[in-house]
Amino acid sequence: MCSNVNNFVRLVVILCLVLEISTKFEWTNIKCSTLDNSFCTIEYCYIKPINRTYKYVSLKVNLLKTPVTKINFAVYKWANGYLPFLYNLTVDSCRFLKNTDANPIAKFFYELIKSHSNMNHTCPYDHDVIIDKLSTDFLSNQFTNVLPVPEGKYMVKSNVFAYDILRARVDVYGTIS
Ligand SMILES: *[C@@H]1O[C@H](CO)[C@@H](O)[C@H](O)[C@H]1NC(C)=O
Ligand SMILES: *[C@@H]1O[C@H](CO)[C@@H](O)[C@H](O)[C@H]1NC(C)=O
Ligand SMILES: *[C@@H]1O[C@H](CO)[C@@H](O)[C@H](O)[C@H]1NC(C)=O
Repeated sequence: MCSNVNNFVRLVVILCLVLEISTKFEWTNIKCSTLDNSFCTIEYCYIKPINRTYKYVSLKVNLLKTPVTKINFAVYKWANGYLPFLYNLTVDSCRFLKNTDANPIAKFFYELIKSHSNMNHTCPYDHDVIIDKLSTDFLSNQFTNVLPVPEGKYMVKSNVFAYDILRARVDVYGTIS
């Protein structure tokens, strides 16, 4: 708990030290894969460009019977290849949703998608997971007004577990300029 708070303070300090406040977020790629077809199927997972300045991501994963128990995600930033950048966290999904304040870093990422997803439902986590039209505009605004992020090419990888077995992966790529 304390170390999470310290990590979060460190994140805020690092990001606030970046003088050039970045404003524009752009989706570049999304990859969804299932490692276990009896666990889930991916109904869709795409970036949709509407026009030159507006793109969104939509994703629907059908969880078949086993609940998600754990999600591991990590941020990577491009520097001659994607290198780990600040965070690689694992959250127990049910415990986290009961008290998101206990993990401020995971909470920051959760807040980015919460309003565009059905993720705030009760445990066990065994329904469909939907992310609906998470747009570049919305994220640009989050990264400008909520938490400025240094410019660069980013990848957020996530590993979805059920009972300690890796079942699915979702990797998203974007640039901040
Ligand atoms: C791009 O699409 C969005 C969403 O439909 C719209 O609000 C915006 O005005 C469009 N921008 C341009 C330049 O057409
Ligand atoms: C987090 O770190 C562990 C240990 O190095 C690694 O196995 C895992 O793949 C990383 N997670 C992600 C989502 O990259
Ligand atoms: C889920 O929504 C309920 C009702 O709006 C709210 O009380 C609760 O704090 C939310 N939980 C999370 C994890 O956002």
